Amino acid sequence: QGVFTYDPGFVSTAACESKITYIDGGKGVLLHRGYPIDQLADDSDYLEVCYLLLYGELPNAAEKEKFESTIRNHTMVHEQLRNFYQGFRRDAHPMAIMCGVVGALSAFYHDSLEISDERHREIAAFRLIAKMPTLAAMCYKYSLGQPFMYPRNDLSYSENFLQMMFGNPCEEYQVNPILAKAMDKIFILHADHEQNASTSTVRLAGSSGANPFACIAAGIAALWGPAHGGANEAVLEMLDEIGDVSRVDEYVARAKDKNDPFRLMGFGHRVYKNYDPRAKVMRETCHEVLKELGIKDPLLELAMKLEDIARSDPYFIEKNLYPNVDFYSGIILKAIGIPTSMFTVIFALARTVGWVAHWHEMISGSYRIGRPRQLYTGSPQRDFTPLDKR
Ligand code: CMC
Repeated sequence: QGVFTYDPGFVSTAACESKITYIDGGKGVLLHRGYPIDQLADDSDYLEVCYLLLYGELPNAAEKEKFESTIRNHTMVHEQLRNFYQGFRRDAHPMAIMCGVVGALSAFYHDSLEISDERHREIAAFRLIAKMPTLAAMCYKYSLGQPFMYPRNDLSYSENFLQMMFGNPCEEYQVNPILAKAMDKIFILHADHEQNASTSTVRLAGSSGANPFACIAAGIAALWGPAHGGANEAVLEMLDEIGDVSRVDEYVARAKDKNDPFRLMGFGHRVYKNYDPRAKVMRETCHEVLKELGIKDPLLELAMKLEDIARSDPYFIEKNLYPNVDFYSGIILKAIGIPTSMFTVIFALARTVGWVAHWHEMISGSYRIGRPRQLYTGSPQRDFTPLDKR
């Protein structure tokens, strides 16, 4: 049997070495390839951050232009992929559709499945980053019964996503630069977060030699849960349910009650025992976007009240429960016009680069198939009992 370290939830087990992302949860620090997340969110753009995560350095002007042009070249999806959408109910959850269509990419792009070939790995990464906005927007268009929009090469990554979400073939889509900038920031803030549940899932799936499209589909499935990426959707549903600042105390009391399964969604984190640095940027962006758009959303007032009360409550102070990245993102997405059911899809879209970067880092180095052990707590060996003796 051997002796194994028992570490449910992998609280103290490092499963790999990585050079991509550093988190100091006690201090609330998040660095991508050494660069602080707030600087990247304020001064960079999403595709530049993708390049940084994939290649380890910020691109110079020529490298940036080449990378953007490569991504633009891969934004369309195979026409037959449309048929997959037609097979779903119109009210299907878009994350259910994403699990299917992203996995299905491996059936379309056989020419980038030789994972021992560096060039194949690179093309698979380009395809995934480029096609995610197209696939995501197609989920939304399908739910509305509207025509799918083709990507446009004259637009930036986030502008293009908004165009495919909200444009229609009858008129030219007018991009609102404030919304596009906010969208880009949301993508940057979700781009990577070291060995979280979905990234670990991608690495584990990849360690068996599975193709990158299948591995990312596994990551999408892991992200869907409300304890992980599904929290952004759950936060807005929770704020809607609370409905009014007068009911905040009641919900905070429920969150503290150990006999009630309710938790404050968007609060707490396995690694951060301080303010999540992404939530800090998200909170500021939320205020900026609503102000610039002239929107007064009562949910923002409610969210701030909830944060105030929770953060002055001994239960939340003792357990170091702070707002996480998902707490304010939903209010921005709502202001942009994105429906709640698409929130986790947007997380998946943005996190694709992180998943791919980790998969690529693992496959490019030395790795073994991931194979956790267990502490067996079942019956000792016994003899089979025939059916007539049971
Ligand atoms: N509301 C009330 N109590 C909480 C909460 C919460 N949101 N989060 C943790 N706790 C309590 C928990 O009940 C436990 O109490 P006790 O020690 O008395 O048993 C203690 O705090 C530690 O919680 P845990 O579940 O052991 O911590 P974890 O590291 O296993 O889970 C978490 C982390 C994020 C799953 C959890 O905090 C949670 O469920 N939060 C709400 C969901 C959420 O916002 N998820 C998004 C995470 S950030 C985005 C992402 O990376 O996906």
